[in-house]
Amino acid sequence: MTLVDGLTPAALLLAALAACWIMLPAWLPNPVAALFGGGRPIDGGRVLGDGHRLLGNGKTWRGFAAGIIAGLGCGALQIAAQGTALAVPLPAHTPLSVTALAVGALLGDIVKSFFKRRLGRERGEAWPLVDQYDLVVGAFALLALVDPGWIATNITPSVLVFVLVLTPLLHRGMNLIGYAAGIKEEPW
Ligand code: CTP
Ligand code: MG
Repeated sequence: MTLVDGLTPAALLLAALAACWIMLPAWLPNPVAALFGGGRPIDGGRVLGDGHRLLGNGKTWRGFAAGIIAGLGCGALQIAAQGTALAVPLPAHTPLSVTALAVGALLGDIVKSFFKRRLGRERGEAWPLVDQYDLVVGAFALLALVDPGWIATNITPSVLVFVLVLTPLLHRGMNLIGYAAGIKEEPW
């Protein structure tokens, strides 16, 4: 059976698994930052000429560090697992791909907050689509900068579609869990 030319259900399943494998080091930093964040804000409390904070209290050093450590740890486990016989052929992470994805995801989140403040949106206020895709843009932008070949090899069109579909679903799911658990102040 073929859904679209050349896209069998098996190929689609493999693309979905590849998207998850690729994105794990980028997906993990945000919820971990929410879990362990707090303390000194990255912007040191600075207010710009427009009367709004440079980034706001939602971006802290502790959250940034904890998120990156989690993303790198997850990536290290994935790289170790690749050395064993995995049952399905997955994209091969490298120390560079893992680092770019984890760091880029949180840098994207920080850049997002910068522009959110410039638009006068307060910390925690929802910014639909941008709140969900900041990590994808940040992660892929940094990866494209440091290892464009990795992107060309591994981010196929069908993998990209799964990344774009799964990321907001996971984002929403994790935020609902975080809100219910009292970790997040808003359910988005
Ligand atoms: N967090 C953190 N440091 C980061 C990123 C996130 O401490 N670098 C923590 C903060 O406690 C933050 C929570 O994770 O409140 C949720 O992150 P996010 O939704 O990105 O921040 P918001 O509070 O919504 O702030 P903003 O409006 O700037 O996105
Ligand atoms: Mg938020």
